[in-house]
Amino acid sequence: MAHAAPEVKNSRQVAETRSPASAGMEGKGRVMKLIIVGACGRMGKAVAEAAERSGITVAAGVDINAASAPLTYKYPIYEKPSDFTGSADVLIDFSHHTALEGVLRFAHERRMAAVIATTGHTGQELELMREASSMIPIFYSRNMSLGVNLLLELVKTAASALGAEYNIEIVEEHHKHKLDAPSGTALMLAEAATEGLRSAEGEDYKPQLVTERASRRAEREAHEIGIHSVRGGSIVGEHEVIFAGQNEVIRLSHSAASREVFADGAIKAAAFIIGKPAGLYDMRDLVSMPR
Ligand SMILES: NC(=O)c1ccc[n+]([C@@H]2O[C@H](COP(=O)([O-])OP(=O)(O)OC[C@H]3O[C@@H](n4cnc5c(N)ncnc54)[C@H](O)[C@@H]3O)[C@@H](O)[C@H]2O)c1
Repeated sequence: MAHAAPEVKNSRQVAETRSPASAGMEGKGRVMKLIIVGACGRMGKAVAEAAERSGITVAAGVDINAASAPLTYKYPIYEKPSDFTGSADVLIDFSHHTALEGVLRFAHERRMAAVIATTGHTGQELELMREASSMIPIFYSRNMSLGVNLLLELVKTAASALGAEYNIEIVEEHHKHKLDAPSGTALMLAEAATEGLRSAEGEDYKPQLVTERASRRAEREAHEIGIHSVRGGSIVGEHEVIFAGQNEVIRLSHSAASREVFADGAIKAAAFIIGKPAGLYDMRDLVSMPR
């Protein structure tokens, strides 16, 4: 299936005024109280473990499947964010893209910062996130690992240096339970390549994402960026960007060995965003990478 050219986001839209959500959140040494959305899932559990390692209190979990959660959790699990009546500073969302509207409404009403790590959002949901970020601080990244965010920079640089003569193909591999394809990270890599290509070929350059070739029986066009999704077993996350030239191939890749890397990144993002002005933040804010 052919997709429209990826939208290259310039995501930071930090409001000048401080949001109600950020008021009173700062203060060094203050204990962070966290809510995990998607608490019963693979990443929700990894975040709880990362919080425990960092001495952070999980105030509650939220999960649509709360009713079937075993009683072994050390914190209460609610079906909807609004069922939680206590206080917390920040939420981390690793659930499903359809949860977003309720999550943002809750964070806004409760004056809470939000780390959105879920992938697969629709354009409309991303627009909701942008609107909400004028009222509360939101940290959004489809990949919470430092390594992948460095890879994004390397891909941008390579695409800018090599230009459209080198064909770009992205291969991503994930476990058999993953719901969305291509992965959010593969889309970010395509966006980074697009940025690089635009600096080489001109701002009007429009690559086309191609996620399915079998039905086409046609030669690859120069402006395509191919994305291939592999699903199987327990693969945590593999991404490779291939730049195929006439007589040479350059490969840039990242391999995640465990979910800890994303969970630790989300905890760092949560600590970073508490007390920040309303706005949309991402990993480049956290690790001072170039924009
Ligand atoms: N940003 C990153 O670095 C990163 C890393 C890994 C996974 N992810 C993304 O995080 C999300 C979760 O991944 P996972 O592997 O933990 O999935 P999972 O299926 O193991 O867990 C998702 C959990 O969310 C719950 N859930 C579903 N809909 C919900 C809703 N409307 N409200 C509340 N809870 C709901 C499910 O019951 C489940 O327990 C996916 O979108 C995945 O792509 C992001």
